[in-house]
Amino acid sequence: MLLFALLFFSLVAQACSASQPTTHPHQPQQQKTEQGTKNIFILAGQSNMAGRGGVVNDTVTGIATWDGVVPPECRPNPSILRLSADLTWIEAREPLHADIDAKKTNGIGPGMAFAKAILVANRSGASGVIGLVPCAVGGTNITHWARGSFLYNQMIRRAKAALNNGGTIRALLWYQGESDTANREDAKSYKNRVETFFGDVRLDLQSPALPIIQVALASGEEAAFIDIVREAQLGVDFLNVRTVDAKGLPLEPDGLHLTTPAQVRLGQMLAAAYLQFLPSSSTTGTSDAPRTLSNFVSNLVIFLLLKICSITIS
Ligand SMILES: *[C@@H]1O[C@H](CO)[C@@H](O)[C@H](O)[C@H]1NC(C)=O
Ligand SMILES: *[C@@H]1O[C@H](CO)[C@@H](O)[C@H](O)[C@H]1NC(C)=O
Ligand SMILES: *[C@@H]1O[C@H](CO)[C@@H](O)[C@H](O)[C@H]1NC(C)=O
Repeated sequence: MLLFALLFFSLVAQACSASQPTTHPHQPQQQKTEQGTKNIFILAGQSNMAGRGGVVNDTVTGIATWDGVVPPECRPNPSILRLSADLTWIEAREPLHADIDAKKTNGIGPGMAFAKAILVANRSGASGVIGLVPCAVGGTNITHWARGSFLYNQMIRRAKAALNNGGTIRALLWYQGESDTANREDAKSYKNRVETFFGDVRLDLQSPALPIIQVALASGEEAAFIDIVREAQLGVDFLNVRTVDAKGLPLEPDGLHLTTPAQVRLGQMLAAAYLQFLPSSSTTGTSDAPRTLSNFVSNLVIFLLLKICSITIS
């Protein structure tokens, strides 16, 4: 009985400590200066997260090329890094997913505009260096992202590697679901599948309250089933999951991919949603945001378990 109680206690203690945003265990607690803190964001999903803004198909050859246009909101900045496919930090440049979604022609996605907007806001918990971890791959459905799949494992591996030189994973940015709009059954299963995915990511990153910002679809394959997937997305009611709606943003002529200006807008919408997680005062100095209800709940649970344990022992 006592053994069981202690085992249970240690599991909960682990979950409790993990409810802080994920920080590398070997790293001394976050550096004192904001400047030294790397704020890490995982970018995952399918083509509209990878970025197809400015990608045009040659109608004769059928070859897709990127027009190379990088708007000011997406230009490189020494404070914005990306984790390359070979797991090194380099200055981020468009197309952000070129070496990750390597089989496709990549263009502008939301990542750079997101990072730039976060930097401009210069808020506690969001200033210093931004580290982007691109993981999105075009044409992938929600099953391709299920726990244990190649893409899932790669994302977790990259997220963990991102912490090697210190820093904190602040959020997962997720834009996916177009490939789940082709038939009714898949569309109807989406809510269950995406919620399972969010839960699994939090579990495997040992960050049960990790902020997740998902994008409700702007496009897909079958109009009737887009609405089912969108309904699923807008209906996800998890703590620390926010949804921004891409519906109505301008699309490329293919009717599927967001244009470059649309991606800039989306990046800024994602940033605004992320900033809502942070304490409103920017003068608090520390960057332990976001503070969450679940931190409070897990602290309460641990307190009660301590009580139970002490009763059992005595
Ligand atoms: C960010 O804000 C801090 C004070 O909160 C200030 O010292 C610093 O200069 C600001 N950085 C930028 C780039 O505006
Ligand atoms: C995802 O695509 C695979 C084939 O690549 C297919 O077997 C699976 O049924 C699809 N799942 C969904 C949810 O569309
Ligand atoms: C280019 O063609 C590919 C393959 O047919 C298609 O998936 C993609 O959406 C097209 N892109 C644009 C911008 O038209």
